[in-house]
Amino acid sequence: MTTTIPGVHEDLLAYRDQFPILERKTYLNSCSLGALSRRSMQGLADFQEEWNEYGAAAWYSRWISRLGDLRSAYGRVIGAREGEIALQPNVSTALTMVASCLDHTERRKVVVADVDFPTIAHQWLAKRRLGVEVVTVPSEGRIHIPLERWAEAIDDRTALVATSHVLYTSGQIQDVAAIAEMAHRSGALCLVDGYQSAGQVPLDVHALEADFYVGGSLKWLLGGQGMAFLWVRPDLIGSLEPTVTGWFAADAQFSFQNTELQLRDDAVRFEYGTPSIPTAYTALGGLSIVEEVGVLRIRERTDHLTRDLVAKARARGLQLRVPNDPEQHAAITMVDVPDAAAAVAGLSEQGVIADYRHGLLRLSPYFYNTEAENDRTLDVLEEVIRGMPAMPDRPSSATTG
Ligand SMILES: Cc1ncc(COP(=O)(O)O)c(C=O)c1O
Repeated sequence: MTTTIPGVHEDLLAYRDQFPILERKTYLNSCSLGALSRRSMQGLADFQEEWNEYGAAAWYSRWISRLGDLRSAYGRVIGAREGEIALQPNVSTALTMVASCLDHTERRKVVVADVDFPTIAHQWLAKRRLGVEVVTVPSEGRIHIPLERWAEAIDDRTALVATSHVLYTSGQIQDVAAIAEMAHRSGALCLVDGYQSAGQVPLDVHALEADFYVGGSLKWLLGGQGMAFLWVRPDLIGSLEPTVTGWFAADAQFSFQNTELQLRDDAVRFEYGTPSIPTAYTALGGLSIVEEVGVLRIRERTDHLTRDLVAKARARGLQLRVPNDPEQHAAITMVDVPDAAAAVAGLSEQGVIADYRHGLLRLSPYFYNTEAENDRTLDVLEEVIRGMPAMPDRPSSATTG
């Protein structure tokens, strides 16, 4: 028997009304896709209304300024200042933008980790024929990466160190400030993928001392697909000359001249072409909730729910792949089950939405979830596992693809 840890910020449960899916499903999958809010639905309806009402005139009367609102809102959530955020369609295009600013003549190496989301490594693996060398730092069992391993991999041939703030494979919060410092000591730049942290982990992006920070709306920022952001260290912005671009990056965008390219002097110089306005509206809806709740309260509540989930799962004899120190554990919990894909399907049949990665079940409670939903998820999971063939012995570190 486990005792339930007393609730934290239960007042936030008032927000459950904002997310209709919570009435029908036990939703423990915000690290894949944050729940759709009524505010985002209303935003989408407003966008359609404006399109219908004003046609192209909505660009000037509404949409251009809403894009500015969105840059500011992303910035506030990560502690950035005005002019430091560029909108991006997704993190992959943000990486393409950063990659286009790098010069590899003296420094060919890009250092990533085996637990970074694949799109990070893919960006530079695609440039191997241009002479780029990708060095992959190995993790401990896909849970964490000892700092010494970063130190061993980074040297004076390194152009960029690119890694995640929160690992999608374990929920580990990496000490990215320490990694950025190592990169700088060797004369390299540092990019942090904050897709799994922005919104759920309080952060002051300036204090991380990184050069680039990327993230997006899909997950903890509750805004849906098709909108992401790139933060660039302010003193770097003007000195970077991207070789990929688009007319939204041009200084005098609406002059429509095409014989010169003069980029803006703020981070908007890293944007491309026409952004997705419908997603800008859904993204603003989600961000308004995240900002209203506050990332600190989000972290306190999800930390509480994560500790509750971990304690209850362990009490039921489930094997977890999570960081040892709960302080470094964000709201992603990996569970070893005999067949993770079948477990996700079995849970889904009973209205519990979860996911799997690398052969492990992935559960991610957010501030709008409850301890009772943790209980229900584990009840259903036990039932699903009982119906599965016995689990083969596994090594203690994850080796599944
Ligand atoms: C850590 C991390 N980075 C990046 C992505 C996605 O990148 P993109 O926006 O290019 O699809 C994900 C998940 O979708 C992720 O978990």
